[in-house]
Amino acid sequence: MTFLEEINRRRTFGIIAHPDAGKTTLTEKLLLFGGAIQSAGAVKSNKIKKHTTSDFMEIERQRGISVATSVMAFEYKGKKINILDTPGHEDFAEDTYRTLTAVDSVIMLIDCVKGVEPQTRKLLEVCRMRKTPVIVFINKMDREGQDAFDLLDEIEKELKIKVRPLSWPIGIGKTFKGVYNLYEQSLNLFRGEDKQTIADSIEIKSLNDGELEKYIGEDNTKKLRNDIELIEGVYHEFTKEDYLDGHISPVFFGSAVNNFGVRELLDCFIEIAPVPRDRETDTKVVHPTDDIFSGFVFKIHANLDPKHRDRIAFLRICSGKFERNKYYYHVRDGKEVRFSNPTAFMAQDKSVIDEAYPGDIIGLYDSGTFKIADTITEGEKMNFKGIPSFSPELFRYVTNLDPMKTKQLQKGLEQLTDEGVAQLFTKKVDGRKILGTVGALQFEVIQHRLKSEYNASCSFDQVSLHKALWISSENKSKLDSFVQDRSQHIAMDKEGKLVFLAESAWLLQMAQEKFPEIEFHLKSEF
Ligand code: G4P
Repeated sequence: MTFLEEINRRRTFGIIAHPDAGKTTLTEKLLLFGGAIQSAGAVKSNKIKKHTTSDFMEIERQRGISVATSVMAFEYKGKKINILDTPGHEDFAEDTYRTLTAVDSVIMLIDCVKGVEPQTRKLLEVCRMRKTPVIVFINKMDREGQDAFDLLDEIEKELKIKVRPLSWPIGIGKTFKGVYNLYEQSLNLFRGEDKQTIADSIEIKSLNDGELEKYIGEDNTKKLRNDIELIEGVYHEFTKEDYLDGHISPVFFGSAVNNFGVRELLDCFIEIAPVPRDRETDTKVVHPTDDIFSGFVFKIHANLDPKHRDRIAFLRICSGKFERNKYYYHVRDGKEVRFSNPTAFMAQDKSVIDEAYPGDIIGLYDSGTFKIADTITEGEKMNFKGIPSFSPELFRYVTNLDPMKTKQLQKGLEQLTDEGVAQLFTKKVDGRKILGTVGALQFEVIQHRLKSEYNASCSFDQVSLHKALWISSENKSKLDSFVQDRSQHIAMDKEGKLVFLAESAWLLQMAQEKFPEIEFHLKSEF
């Protein structure tokens, strides 16, 4: 296969959903279709259950699972499909945001009973920011959910996206019979009452086909014809270009647990989903077909053996061919690096690979040289953009509880924050360290890991902060005077960028009004 063919057959995507919408189930069904796994139940849920938040064993177990399910690849109809796992739990939202920088498209799952949920809203915002094409899968149609048109309205209104159904449910809940596939103009029906067997898909030439009633009955036929007429009248025609530009999201209906509607989703996905896309760096746009290798680290995972602090860095390949044992350039460090055991992920198996292509994700063993967002090239000095840190939601002062282990604590905090578990800010005025996270669970994870991996103890003390905002100004002297004026509330992030610690929304507003030349940013990249 040529280099170009290798690139064009890759589809790298993530499934986003609010917890419980059925992400694990759908992932598993996709792997089953791809023949990558043989039985249901093979993909472990990476859900963090609410009641186990203070159970450290549970945290360890979850970490193990999330290494295993970080990337799952399989082959389907000649395409190489890479599914990137995105934790649904809101405390790990930042992990998910970063993973979304490494995908080319997204399948968004919605539970037909619950409709649009808070996590769906936040994740879609990230996709919009990045102009990531989104396919919607409305799941659990075997349950008594909302009316299909109402759901579409809700999605359009709540998520501010345009949708276009490409399949349409016949009945819902107890009366759910199957779906009409608008894309292929075929019927997919359950066989029997138990909803466990799927009849072969039935080609129908047109909805006026007299045969239709035979399959779904008179009432359903009438309703289906009316519904489709309405769809054709109300919704824009679907074009692949609109979808790829992020202007329209095709919608599928189904029931993942019953295997229903999944094949249609997958078949359409491989037809329309984007091949590896261009990516921006601070110096140029990188095309996947460029000969020269480049990629970036979007996730770092500590290994589970606390005696060995080695980690796995997940690298998204953006251009060129990756080769084992070849020397590459670590841009931030300015050093040459070589990887003798790069791993690829097929379903849930890891194996050492000799080469990989744009769109692929590879795992690199790392003894602490990588940080999230690091760029690897063949010598070019450039950095991929779009992997920012976001202003955290929760803040705590870090207090060292064991002065004999100051160095260990320092190193532990450095490395854990390199992994992206939390963000570390150092106050300018007194050097006190503040950790910022998206969720409370991270503080427990950090405390636990500092103890078990670095033998360091610390306590976390409340800091009452509303937001940490990165600041900049075209006018350097204005920036200096702001920093001087608000010195009690200025900190540095790990890269040495200036951050304003706003204690309340009101104080932030005051600062903005008094210093109009200062720009306040909610993310570290601006
Ligand atoms: P998540 O990864 O998005 O959090 O969701 P997961 O796949 O774990 O699914 C959450 C629950 O929803 C599971 O039930 C799963 O069986 C169920 N589910 C998934 N797809 C469908 C569907 O199409 N129809 C119906 N009715 N249920 C569906 P659970 O009781 O939490 O777990 P389990 O014991 O059934 O595995």
